[in-house]
Amino acid sequence: MIKHIPVLVDAVMNTIGNIKDARVLDATFGAGGYTRRFLESGANVTAFDRDPNVVADADIIKKEFDNKFDFIPKTFSHMADLTEKFDAIVFDLGISSMQIDNPERGFSFRADAPLDMRMSFDGPTVCDMFDKWTIADITKILRDFGDIKPAGAIANAIKQFKPRTTFELKDLIHNPRDIAPVFQALRIAVNDEMGELVRALDAVPNLLQMGGRCICVTFHSVEDRIVKNTFRKWTSIEGDPRILVNTSAPFKLLPAKVPTQKEIQQNPRARSAHMRGVVKSC
Ligand SMILES: C[S@@+](CC[C@H](N)C(=O)[O-])C[C@H]1O[C@@H](n2cnc3c(N)ncnc32)[C@H](O)[C@@H]1O
Repeated sequence: MIKHIPVLVDAVMNTIGNIKDARVLDATFGAGGYTRRFLESGANVTAFDRDPNVVADADIIKKEFDNKFDFIPKTFSHMADLTEKFDAIVFDLGISSMQIDNPERGFSFRADAPLDMRMSFDGPTVCDMFDKWTIADITKILRDFGDIKPAGAIANAIKQFKPRTTFELKDLIHNPRDIAPVFQALRIAVNDEMGELVRALDAVPNLLQMGGRCICVTFHSVEDRIVKNTFRKWTSIEGDPRILVNTSAPFKLLPAKVPTQKEIQQNPRARSAHMRGVVKSC
């Protein structure tokens, strides 16, 4: 299986600045590509990942970097429970190559497998949710997270034929261009990816030191909108600007970045990536 190639990692490293001896929270460990760069730059890293399959990679890094690295095998919204402060908090959202390329996980429509799609291996699978979601629920998921025009027709077909495998689901989608967005939308829903992101971002301002940075790499327009709107809120002065004199916003925006053509050529999975960042300024 191909190891995950970290996306926009140089852009993240340039935006994060000097992190020697800093405390960095990597919200999405994956294959440890970002974590390794942070550790090699002299930082202390705490990393989250909800996928039990990454624990072996985390153990390898732990052996190498010992007490400079901590791994927390939980969803990143659990960062709200942490009490220490960080100099940087980084999210590299979505799924990894190991997840999408493992046919048994049910993320990919290119291999036949049970419709699972859970990143954490716990809770209901997509297949289980097809029994619970109504036609209206599925239509909304496909519209909101996939922008699928025939969302209602596909939702009806799902409830009627109850697909149990990736190929059975694929066969219900008439337009080949809708297949990838349908799979992505169902994955986002079953893992509550947007809820996780909103809850974690809520915790970030309290977890950051003064001068600390939050950097998010997104791969989906809804995800990117959540980050953009959250950062906009943090970087604007709250309240009535006519009354608030000499008040500055608690965060400042850092330049947003997208992958270069060269990075996209080397790693096509980078093509939809956007990086946004903010720095805590008061
Ligand atoms: C794109 S990969 C990260 C790749 C990593 N930056 C690297 O360089 O190897 C995303 C990872 O985030 C994890 N993930 C996604 N949502 C999560 C959540 N809510 N809580 C914890 N981990 C999550 C996935 O399991 C996956 O391993």
